[in-house]
Amino acid sequence: MSEPSELSTLRADWDARYRAAPLDAPVPAAVLRDYAHLLPAQGQALDLACGRGGNALFMAQQGLQVDAWDFSPVVIAQLQYVVRERHLDITPAVRDVLAHPPAALGYDVITVSYFLERALAPALIAALRPGGMLFYQTFGPVRINEHGPRNPAYRLEAGELLRMFAALSPRLYREEGRLDDSQQGLRGEVMFIGERPAIR
Ligand SMILES: C[S@@+](CC[C@H](N)C(=O)[O-])C[C@H]1O[C@@H](n2cnc3c(N)ncnc32)[C@H](O)[C@@H]1O
Repeated sequence: MSEPSELSTLRADWDARYRAAPLDAPVPAAVLRDYAHLLPAQGQALDLACGRGGNALFMAQQGLQVDAWDFSPVVIAQLQYVVRERHLDITPAVRDVLAHPPAALGYDVITVSYFLERALAPALIAALRPGGMLFYQTFGPVRINEHGPRNPAYRLEAGELLRMFAALSPRLYREEGRLDDSQQGLRGEVMFIGERPAIR
């Protein structure tokens, strides 16, 4: 069966971007890098819509076994090359995460950065094991500079991650809006870390 044309166009756009962009070393999202002390020492992790895999590489360096999924075959081939060269514990896969979200109770850690698909929230919560952690960072409601989408539908609303992941215990939430010196701090973006409560 052929893909809906909107999806194949979107995927072709991402493929073209990844073919054209320089192969710079990917970096993890700040929510993961700055709060790495909240990661478990071992376990199964997922970098969802991983792109070049900055989060996956970082989580593997922290001792986690990582799945890295993206629907762009171009970027997954790029990541596979890095994984093979460096003998890392990362399993990259081409996967449309909307059609094939993660299975329930599959992960100790899930990281999502700069990818906002609201409909996936229940599946992400269900995919965490008890005590599992979600690290999320993406563009917020206040567009302070040229970064990120212009269309507000692709940006979070104020407090939205807290509502979206209300089933998780919040361990960190940062949304600084336009308060005071907007050149400092985390501007235009939002961070959330949530923990799935243990099942009693
Ligand atoms: C803005 S990039 C972010 C990549 C990475 N998370 C990062 O922080 O650099 C968004 C990514 O989502 C991927 N993507 C978009 N829709 C997807 C889908 N339905 N399933 C899997 N990946 C998707 C794109 O290929 C792209 O790599």
